[in-house]
Amino acid sequence: MATIKAAILGFGTVGQGIYHILNEKREELKNKLGIELEVAKILVTDASRERVPGTAHLMTTSMDEVLAEPGMQVVFEAIVNEEPAYSYLKRAVEHKCHVITANKVMFAKRGLELQDLAKANGVFVGYEATTAGGVPVIKTMKNILLVNDVSRIQGVLNGTCNYILTKMRAQGWSFETALKEAQGLGYAEADPYNDISGQDAFKKLMILSALAFGEQPDWSDVEVIGIDSISAEQVHEACEKGLRYRHVAEVEKRADGKIIAKVGPQLVDKEHPLYPVDDVFNAVALETNYIGTLTLVGPGAGMYPTASVMVEDYAEIIGKRAGFVVTI
Ligand code: HSE
Repeated sequence: MATIKAAILGFGTVGQGIYHILNEKREELKNKLGIELEVAKILVTDASRERVPGTAHLMTTSMDEVLAEPGMQVVFEAIVNEEPAYSYLKRAVEHKCHVITANKVMFAKRGLELQDLAKANGVFVGYEATTAGGVPVIKTMKNILLVNDVSRIQGVLNGTCNYILTKMRAQGWSFETALKEAQGLGYAEADPYNDISGQDAFKKLMILSALAFGEQPDWSDVEVIGIDSISAEQVHEACEKGLRYRHVAEVEKRADGKIIAKVGPQLVDKEHPLYPVDDVFNAVALETNYIGTLTLVGPGAGMYPTASVMVEDYAEIIGKRAGFVVTI
């Protein structure tokens, strides 16, 4: 059976999720893809702490060591922030490794650049996990774009915000309690300010804009408002009127070619498609010319939904088999 080697960069919630899924699905993936995948390296900042039993021998703090591993061909990246993630992935791509990332901060800014570099090196970039967690919006939109134009995207793109707003309304929790729970469940970012300030949803929206329109609006033109200014009283008043707060991100390409985007809380009524989208769920509505409006709904954060779409990206890349050098 042919074997290829992979590395996981970053071993927090998502990195560990990838490791667990690859282990649990080892036989099935092997049978379906005809290739065995071996996690050969795990890059962390502190290799003295074994997060998952049995992984101590795989840990390294050196990207040089990751790339020096013979047969290294796939890099899963689940690091926070633009650097050193971008530099690591650039090196991986230049080393002819396929890369699969969950890093929206890096990808919103450097995604187009990374994809061009990957193309020039004959490797693939998987980035489904950057946007809307377990919701397959990237692969769906790529398919749709083969025939359709997408003119507008509207969605709930941050699971933590939606979870907090839901729990404040349905359980009467305070903002602080709901945020703490979201952190405990692995939904929130390492710095949850990125979630509640709207910055996380903004980055995801920019990734969708780049895919749908091939470009992004000028970031400084986009109004980004979080949920940190919404009080428990406002949530309850809205609820009594039959309304719900949703944190909505939207981008559209106008007829004159200008791209307009905004991110912020909105009150929606029972008739609105985002009204029933509760808890950690995300929703993305794509307005297209032939299909009409297509809405995808699913879990937007958490270890397994996010890690699962990264392993799906891996399976898709393996399916393409392009450029793979197989070690027997
Ligand atoms: N903190 C993010 C969220 C994780 O809550 O949506 C998934 O990108």
